[in-house]
Amino acid sequence: MGTDRIPMGRMFIDDEMLETANRILASGQWIKGPESKAFGAEWAAYCGALGGTPCSNGSVALIAALHALDVGHGDEVIVPSHTYIASATCINLVGATPKFVEVEEEYYTLDPTALEAAITPSTKAIIGVHLYGQPMDTTIFEIASKHGIPVIEDSAQGHGGSLNGQRIGSFGDIATFSFFPSKNMAVGGDGGAIITTREDLIQRVSTFIDHGRSDKYRNDVLGTNFRLSEIQCGVGRVQLKHLDNWVARRNEIAARYNAAFSELPHIKHPQVRPGAVHAWHQYVLRVGDREAFQAHMNEMNISTGIHYPIPCHLQPVYADHPQGTEGSLPLTEAICSDIVSIPVMPLLTDEEVDRVIEAVQAWQP
Ligand SMILES: Cc1ncc(COP(=O)(O)O)c(C=O)c1O
Repeated sequence: MGTDRIPMGRMFIDDEMLETANRILASGQWIKGPESKAFGAEWAAYCGALGGTPCSNGSVALIAALHALDVGHGDEVIVPSHTYIASATCINLVGATPKFVEVEEEYYTLDPTALEAAITPSTKAIIGVHLYGQPMDTTIFEIASKHGIPVIEDSAQGHGGSLNGQRIGSFGDIATFSFFPSKNMAVGGDGGAIITTREDLIQRVSTFIDHGRSDKYRNDVLGTNFRLSEIQCGVGRVQLKHLDNWVARRNEIAARYNAAFSELPHIKHPQVRPGAVHAWHQYVLRVGDREAFQAHMNEMNISTGIHYPIPCHLQPVYADHPQGTEGSLPLTEAICSDIVSIPVMPLLTDEEVDRVIEAVQAWQP
């Protein structure tokens, strides 16, 4: 058994990606060409949405989604605090205010009961996050529709996941994705996408990310440049061909972990929502003494991560937010204090999976 360090992520680069990047570079068409069009359409079709467009990254994808829904000054947007900071800061960046809510303890996604209790007449949109690749509860979409509030699915961690046969990204009004290098699918740099199930939003989104123009020199509506390059869109199209296999491999690894960790008294392993294909962007354990656990894994030459150690509402950026004090969201705060992620990338070898299992099983708090 090898003892090389096991990282949290490993890049997939194949000849087709390299040839594609070379071909597009040599073509001289570096932006706004056939690759962006095709990637947007293929990604939307894969997810089961009506249409979509690639964009620069998953953070601006959220800004574009909020803009498309006319969210702005004076509006409130409900968002879980247990997520990556970009799910929340996009709200302030369009002039609105985040209203932070708890997640479900078993699944780490937006708690429908907390969501319903947080709705006010000022609620203009809901951002739900398929955190770690776990599809969020469909009750969220029922509650939103009952109140006439649109839902943005922050699917930055959800590529390839599904619930009851329906892919992540096709449940709400708009969904956003990130193709950051460590995500389930990447594009050779920063990247993102916005897809929608609403006919009326397709053009709005694609126009917004290209200066609001209808023509080279005609700018009809407010917009800016959030485009993704042709090279990256071409690389993304190649990666998309592998996504189903990668998600299957992530599920294989997670199933082995869950079976091996189910009887461990000091560790809580992750649950899968009934009916879900989890995208397993992260495999997250809860351990009592996280520092000691990470030190033990480090000793065994295995990398770990924390997603995320500080809940959004307690980040310094929200020091002046009405919920910006400890105790505002006790469950989220407890979760953030003892979660730890272990490697689950599809390029792990079976031998490495064995090593991770043995290391976790050997841990004594
Ligand atoms: C849940 C979530 N939302 C948004 C983002 C932002 O994506 P990006 O890094 O591509 O801007 C990320 C990326 O880490 C994320 O995990």
